[in-house]
Amino acid sequence: MRKTTIVAACCALLFALPASAQDETEKAVEKYRQMLKEDPWSNPGFLDADRGEALWKTAAGPNKATLEKCDLGKGAGVVDGAFAELPRYFADAGKVMDLETRLLWCMEKIQGFNRADLVKRPHPSGGQPVKDLGAMATYVASKSSGQKFAAKLDTPPEKAVVELGQAVFWRRQGPHDFACATCHADSGKRIRLQGLPFLLQPEEAKKVIGEWPAYRVSSTHVMTMQHRLYDCYWQMRMPELEMGSDVSVALIAYLTKNAQGGEIAVPGLKR
Ligand code: HEC
Repeated sequence: MRKTTIVAACCALLFALPASAQDETEKAVEKYRQMLKEDPWSNPGFLDADRGEALWKTAAGPNKATLEKCDLGKGAGVVDGAFAELPRYFADAGKVMDLETRLLWCMEKIQGFNRADLVKRPHPSGGQPVKDLGAMATYVASKSSGQKFAAKLDTPPEKAVVELGQAVFWRRQGPHDFACATCHADSGKRIRLQGLPFLLQPEEAKKVIGEWPAYRVSSTHVMTMQHRLYDCYWQMRMPELEMGSDVSVALIAYLTKNAQGGEIAVPGLKR
């Protein structure tokens, strides 16, 4: 009898301990986030935004052209506020595009870069700085900081893309039979220490979507939205998500629609 009680007590302790230890760690991580946020200029992502601005204005590629003629939706070369209205339909390309896909298009059409080269290894590995395209995305997006997401996404081709994004978000696929919804369609979920935002809930979506591109402390570089989704695809053990692909644009359009009205604060800061 006594032995059973001891075993029961031990078991209770075993189960109780990890939960409280995890809460403590969560609190400590939150404190660390706060400390980094207290001085916004301590965010190393600003260095990449500056690098992106210099790249935007520097002639490059086989055509030796700058991107100052790139039309991000508000007219050739207009950067201020352009990100706040993306993704959108571009008549010249006959496609809906998010920021990175549009930059890819401009680098190809204006500067003469080969698209296949640009999408081969588009994202940095841990410890490496964000690639040039991502630095430019950080610069352009930062020029909408303080504004609210205002992409209308209300024309027929735009609506179709948002619908595709919704379908993909819910579609279970891959060897683990995961959908985005498996991890992101509920409040209060987490994997290990990472909180999993409920991306369909406008309040939660508004809070997190407008923070990309973000400096990610654990991998010590800026990560763009295309990179974030690439990593979630990897977590699902799916084939690589190609930058600029229809699926990537559709998911970003859907997420942005859910975050409509949310404030843009780029570069964000993630754990
Ligand atoms: C197996 C679980 C899992 C699946 C499935 C998954 N994700 Fe994620 N996602 C995560 C984790 C974990 C994080 C947070 C990583 C971190 O904190 O560094 C995350 C982060 C994100 C973020 C950034 C949230 C923030 O805090 O700013 C977005 C956006 C996102 N995922 C979108 C998607 C989309 C779209 C899909 C489907 C293509 C998807 N995820 C599938 C686990 C998942």
